[in-house]
Amino acid sequence: MNVCFLMYPWQDIKNPEDDSSLALVKECVKRGHGVAMTTPANLTIRDSVTFAFCKVIERQEKVSQTLKGFHAKAKFRDEMLPLAGFDVIIMRSNPPLDTIMLNFLDSVKDDVFIMNSVDGIRRANNKLYTAVFEDDKTEFIPRTHVTKNKEYLLGIIKESKEDKMILKPLNGFGGSGVILIEKSAMNSISSLLDFYINNKDGSSNYVILQDYIPGADQGDVRILMLNGKAIGAMKRVPGENDHRSNVSAGGRVEKHALTKREKELCRRIGPKLVKDGLYFVGIDVINGMLVEVNVMSPGGITYMNRVYKTKVQEKVINFVEDMVIAKVSRLDRRAQLRKHVDEA
Ligand SMILES: Nc1ncnc2c1ncn2[C@@H]1O[C@H](COP(=O)(O)OP(=O)(O)O)[C@@H](O)[C@H]1O
Ligand SMILES: [Mg+2]
Repeated sequence: MNVCFLMYPWQDIKNPEDDSSLALVKECVKRGHGVAMTTPANLTIRDSVTFAFCKVIERQEKVSQTLKGFHAKAKFRDEMLPLAGFDVIIMRSNPPLDTIMLNFLDSVKDDVFIMNSVDGIRRANNKLYTAVFEDDKTEFIPRTHVTKNKEYLLGIIKESKEDKMILKPLNGFGGSGVILIEKSAMNSISSLLDFYINNKDGSSNYVILQDYIPGADQGDVRILMLNGKAIGAMKRVPGENDHRSNVSAGGRVEKHALTKREKELCRRIGPKLVKDGLYFVGIDVINGMLVEVNVMSPGGITYMNRVYKTKVQEKVINFVEDMVIAKVSRLDRRAQLRKHVDEA
C-alpha cells in the first residue's frame, strides 16, 4: 500500500529513539510499503485537486535496526503527489491544530482512509473533548470548568473545598502551562488568571480549571487505544521537582498493568472514539480518572517498546493494513455492482 504521513518535518525529529511517528514510518518502510512524508504547510491545490509536496522515502533493502540509524540513513525524493492517490494518510502533526489542513483533507476524506479521521480530529483536538464526555456524575472525569471568565473562576476557586486545583490552557500539550494552584496562595491567582486568559494583542484564551486528582504525585497512566481497545499502557512518574508526569516535563516511564477501573474506563470511551473516527489515541489517566485524550500525534510507542520489549507499531500498522484492504474491497465491489447495472 501507499502511505502518506502528514506530520512534522523530518529534521525536527531531535530524538529519533523516542519518536513514535518515526516508529510507525519505519514499520511501513520495513514492510515494503510506499511511504511519503509531508507537512501541513506543503498541502497544495492544483486545478481543484489536492496535492502535497512530498518527500518519498527511497525503498530500502535492509532497514536499520534502530530508529536513530533509520532516521540518519533515510534518503528522499521530492515529488508533488495527489493525496487521493494514497491508500492511507496517517496524521501525526503536533498540536496546535492547523484548521486549514483539515479543509484540504476534507476534499479527499471519502477517497482515502485517514487516521485519525478529519472529523474526529476537528472534534477532539483540544481538551474540551474530554470535558464534555458524558459523565455528569464525575465518575470518570474530574470536575472541570472551561471559560474565559475570570470572575467565574475566582468564585469557583473560592468555593472549592479542596486546597489544590489544576489550571491549564485549553490548547496546551506536553505539560506546557499545566500548573497546580493552591487556595492558600490566593493573592497571586487573580494575576495568574489574567496572564492565562488575556493576550497582549487584545485576544483571549480559554482556560481549564480542574479538580486536582489525588494521587497525581505518584504519576499518571498513558494508555494507547487502537480501534477502541487498549493496546498498551505505561506509568509516567513525575520528576523530583514537578507535579506533571509528561516525559517531556521530566517524567520517567514504568510498566503498568491496567486496573479494573481503567479497563472499565476504556470500555466506556472506546465505542465513542471509534464512532468519531479516532482509531489511534493516547489517553491520560490519573487514579482511574480520564484527564486527556490525545488524538493528533499520540506518543508512547517507543517508551512502551522499551519497558515491555514489544513492538507496538506492528499492531498499529496491522490495523491500518486491515482497514485499507476492507476499503479497497468495498470499492471493488461497488465497481462490480455499477458495471452490473450499467450493462443491464
Ligand atoms: N486534574 C489534574 N490533577 C492532577 N494532575 C493533573 C491534572 N491535570 C493534569 N495533571 C498533570 O499534568 C500533566 C499534563 O496534563 P494534561 O492535561 O495531560 O495536558 P498535556 O496536554 O500538557 O499533557 C498530567 O499528565 C498530570 O501529570
Ligand atoms: Mg497529557
